[in-house]
Amino acid sequence: MSKSITFIVQPGGQLQGEARVPGDKSMSHRSIMLGSLAEGVTHVKGFLEAEDALATLQAFRDMGVQIEGPVDGCVTIHGVGKHGLKAPQKELYLGNSGTSMRLLSGLLAGQSFNTVLTGDKSLSGRPMKRVTEPLAAMGAAIKTTDKGTAPLEITGRAGQLQAIDYVMPMASAQVKSCLLLAGMYAQGETSVTEPAPTRDHTERMLSGFSYPVKQDGSKVSITAEGKLTATDIDVPSDISSAAFFLVGASIASGSDIVLRHVGINPTRTGVISILRLMGASIEILNERVVGGEPVADLHVVSKPLKGIDIPEELVPLAIDEFPVLFVAAACAEGQTRLSGAEELRVKESDRIQVMADGLQILGVDAQPTADGMVIQGGGKISGGIVTSHGDHRIAMAFAIAGLRANAPITILDCANVNTSFPEFKDLAKNLCLALVCEENSGS
Ligand code: S3P
Repeated sequence: MSKSITFIVQPGGQLQGEARVPGDKSMSHRSIMLGSLAEGVTHVKGFLEAEDALATLQAFRDMGVQIEGPVDGCVTIHGVGKHGLKAPQKELYLGNSGTSMRLLSGLLAGQSFNTVLTGDKSLSGRPMKRVTEPLAAMGAAIKTTDKGTAPLEITGRAGQLQAIDYVMPMASAQVKSCLLLAGMYAQGETSVTEPAPTRDHTERMLSGFSYPVKQDGSKVSITAEGKLTATDIDVPSDISSAAFFLVGASIASGSDIVLRHVGINPTRTGVISILRLMGASIEILNERVVGGEPVADLHVVSKPLKGIDIPEELVPLAIDEFPVLFVAAACAEGQTRLSGAEELRVKESDRIQVMADGLQILGVDAQPTADGMVIQGGGKISGGIVTSHGDHRIAMAFAIAGLRANAPITILDCANVNTSFPEFKDLAKNLCLALVCEENSGS
C-alpha cells in the first residue's frame, strides 16, 4: 500500500515569522558517501532526514558501513576507508534520487565487487548515459537499458580504471561529482571541466576530509593518491527548500520572514540573484562560514516584482528553483523569459512542461519553449486542480502560488515532498500559509 498525498491551499494570506528549513540535500548525500570512505568516525549535524538522503544512507549500510542515526539530524558514520566497502547482498534501491544514482555509479565503478542500482519510475526514466559514457571511457563496465536508463549493472573494476580529462557537455554537478569519485580509484589524474559553474560541495567536502583536489579555473582534478580523514560536518539549511519561502514572502503582500542558517554557497544562490533582479527584498544577515560553507540568515519582506529576462549564466546556480521562480514570474508585472534551461526537462519531472500545464490551468499565460518558458505575469491566478507529476518541487511551488490565487488550489500527487522536505507542510503552516494536507491510502 502506498499513500497518496494531496495539498489544498486556501487563497491569499501572507507569510510571517521565522523558520529554519531542513539540511541541504546535496551536502547530506555527500556527507554519507565521504564519511563512509573516510578513516575514523565522522559526526554529521543538520543531516536531511528525507527519503533521498536516507536512500544514500541505506545504500552505505547495505555495503557494510555502520551508521548510527539519524536522530534529530545527527548521524555518526564509522568510516571503513577508501577500500573498505563490502558487496551488498541485494541491489541498491535509490528511490527518486538522481544524486544517489549518479554519484554512486562513479564511486562503485572502481570497487572490487559488483552492484546493481535501481530506482522508482521517475528515476528509472532519467538519462544515465551522461555518467556511464565518460565512465566507460575510464574503463568502467556499466550496463544500462537500451534507452540509457537504470537499472545500472556495475561490474567493479578495482585497479583498472584510467584517468580521464573530461569536458562536460552540460553544466552538471552530478556528472562532475561522479567523475571525481571515480577518479579517486583511477590511475593518473582525472580532470573535469565545466561549461559553467555548478555546485561545488563535493570539492569543498573532499578538502574538508583532507583529500587533495586541485581547482584551476573551471577545471577540477583529483588522483587516487590520498585518503579521507574523518571530520565533523555541520550541514546548513537547504537554500533549495528555503526558496519556496523566499518566493512566498516576496509575492504575498505584507509578508515579513526570517529564514535561519541557510547555506549561501555562491554556486547555489542564483535564486536570490534572480529574485533581486525582479525587485525582491532579500537581506543577507549574520554571514558566517560553517564547516567550509558560507551560511546566513535571510530576511525577506514582500515587494512588487517585475518580469525580467533571466540571465543564462544564473541558470545552473538556480537549477532546482525554477518551479517556484515560475510562480514568482506569474506574480511579477510584465514578461519573464527563461532560456538555456533545457536541463529542466530531465529533472524529477519535465519541469518546463509540468509547470506550464499547471500554470495554464490556473489561468496564467505561460508558454513553454524547448529550453525554458515565457510567462506574462501580473494577471490573476485562479484556483483549480493541478498535479505535481510526483515531483516534490512542483508540489511545493504550486502550494506557494496559493498566496496570490483567488480561489483554492488543489495539488495532486504530493507524496514525494518527502524526498526533500518532509517538514514543508508544518513549516509552511507555522509561517501562516493556509495549507492542508490530505493523506489517502492507495494501492
Ligand atoms: C545536484 C545537482 C543538480 C541538482 C540536483 C542535485 C547535486 O543536478 O539538480 O538536485 O547534488 O549534485 P545536475 O547535476 O543534474 O544539474
